[in-house]
Amino acid sequence: MRRAKITVIGAGNVGATTAHWCAAAELGDIVLLDIPQTEGMPAGKALDLMQSSPIMGFDATVTGTTDYADTAKSDVVVITAGIPRKPGMSRDDLLKTNAGIVGSVSEEVKKSSPDAIIIVVSNPLDAMVQQAQKVTGFPTARVMGQAGVLDTARYCTFLAMELGVSVEDVQAMLMGGHGDTMVPIRSCTSVGGIPVTQLIDSARLEEIIERTRKGGGEIVGLLKTGSAYYAPAAATAQMVEAIVKDKKRILPAAAYCKSEYGVGGYYVGVPVILGAAGVEKIVELELTEGEKAEFQKSVDAVKELVEVMDGMPA
Ligand code: NAI
Ligand code: 2OP
Repeated sequence: MRRAKITVIGAGNVGATTAHWCAAAELGDIVLLDIPQTEGMPAGKALDLMQSSPIMGFDATVTGTTDYADTAKSDVVVITAGIPRKPGMSRDDLLKTNAGIVGSVSEEVKKSSPDAIIIVVSNPLDAMVQQAQKVTGFPTARVMGQAGVLDTARYCTFLAMELGVSVEDVQAMLMGGHGDTMVPIRSCTSVGGIPVTQLIDSARLEEIIERTRKGGGEIVGLLKTGSAYYAPAAATAQMVEAIVKDKKRILPAAAYCKSEYGVGGYYVGVPVILGAAGVEKIVELELTEGEKAEFQKSVDAVKELVEVMDGMPA
């Protein structure tokens, strides 16, 4: 049986680490692609990763390239190409540069892997995934963005740290855009089956939610150069796994919502069933009035970003 072919575009921090997690989990054969100016960099990282396989005990071919011909007929394409956020820079500041990069990458993916499922990671996420779908014209179920798995993982980490319990016992769901307006769904947050509101008082929970919303910025501030990549890459690999193994996982992803949640035709973070066909279903949760209002604020922020992007000169 043929292994899944997974292409990761952008062999920087998030891209190379995504390749690492995917290879270690034997999710398929991996092609790491970057721009020609990077010369041997993607090939060097791929070879280095391959040489870890006898030690780590995984069977996967990892190749690096600057030529889209090597990515032909990929099953899954992860787009991490772009520039990362620098200290003091908002995700929105990245809009213009990364819209150009994601647009040109998407043109190439459309030609080389017309049947692929695309996971966009480049920021600002919700606008970039919209850009990738617009340029490829792929069915919306086959184009999605990774942010919610990361944001939820950050939230779960902080909750486990607060309570001194295993992360394995923390369950949560965050919705909305990948930004300061992300919405934690309290009815979906529990620890060992116990509603989080019975374990943490609301003032403290608000502080944890605020830290989660600013989770990306906290890492940028610490790293000084570049942004987070271990957790973003692990989150992306989890989505790749759900697709290549047709796991039908319920995960938060930036998915195209038309009638769902009354969004009206934008990509925004919502719970989805993720399987071999991509976004197989958008799960519509019952939200409280407060959550609905917060979600709408988040959707408005995404719409504003997309409108700015669409209005920008090419
Ligand atoms: P990085 O700078 O380490 O890597 C980016 C790579 O993209 C570089 O190697 C660069 O040469 C390459 N690249 C640029 N233009 C390209 C093109 N046209 N074709 C192919 N490759 C191209 O950056 P890092 O840390 O890997 O971040 C990548 C992106 O992911 C950024 O936009 C960042 O903001 C975003 N990000 C998103 C997250 C999310 O949860 N959605 C989390 C973390 C980062
Ligand atoms: C993050 O949340 C920068 O979006 C990136 O870490």
